[in-house]
Amino acid sequence: KRLILIGPPGSGKGTQSPIIKDEYCLCHLATGDMLRAAVAAKTPLGIKAKEAMEKGELVSDDLVVGIIDEAMKKPSCQKGFILDGFPRTVVQAQKLDQMLEKQGLKVDKVLNFAIDDSILEERITGRWIHPSSGRSYHTKFAPPKVSGVDDVTGEPLIQRKDDTAAVLKSRLDAFHKQTEPVIDYYTKKGIVANLHAEKPPKEVTVEVEKVLSS
Ligand code: AP5
Ligand code: ZN
Repeated sequence: KRLILIGPPGSGKGTQSPIIKDEYCLCHLATGDMLRAAVAAKTPLGIKAKEAMEKGELVSDDLVVGIIDEAMKKPSCQKGFILDGFPRTVVQAQKLDQMLEKQGLKVDKVLNFAIDDSILEERITGRWIHPSSGRSYHTKFAPPKVSGVDDVTGEPLIQRKDDTAAVLKSRLDAFHKQTEPVIDYYTKKGIVANLHAEKPPKEVTVEVEKVLSS
């Protein structure tokens, strides 16, 4: 399967991705995770992306299209993939279609994590992540077994620099202006499935499974 997960910051894309990935043996490509790794490693890509990310603005289309193009060549992505956080502009969606067309492929489904903005601040400000695996926790909704520590590795959890109420405002602004048109782009192709992303994580997983088995 070739899937796209679209939704505002904190809508649950990163929470559902590992579950779908394991159930369907897909590769999980999250542009946000890849960019954060590049920033931490101070690669040329990371140096170019850092400022926009800290302000909650989008990184340029060319940079993210480049990393997706590269990542999709991995053997583990040949069977199918989950794109989490990409495409985020109509230009990125068009570029993705072109990349897939060259191989005679297309996107199968777009999962739209529909949710009201008002719920997102609490989710974002309470999030803690394990940077190397991308696993995320929440102080209230998904606490780790031991506070501040990853369940699997025992390594420390950190908060993302852009997970503040102020930066969230810019991220939401970018979502409404630049990413919502992407949902329309795929709606016209008839491949969008709308999820009730405000429900508890397990209920969202059930909705995802229903969509993917239909
Ligand atoms: P990115 O990393 O993609 O961030 P985002 O889109 O803002 O999304 P989040 O990761 O914040 O949300 P999520 O939906 O994954 O939420 P999660 O499941 O963790 O992008 C970061 C930046 O990189 C961008 O601002 C941009 O600068 C750049 N970038 C990335 N891709 C780009 C692109 N294609 N083009 C240009 N620039 C790009 O959940 C959040 C919290 O809520 C967690 O604590 C979780 O435990 C909890 N939670 C999850 N689900 C539920 C639930 N159902 N109920 C209760 N709590 C829940
Ligand atoms: Zn995420």
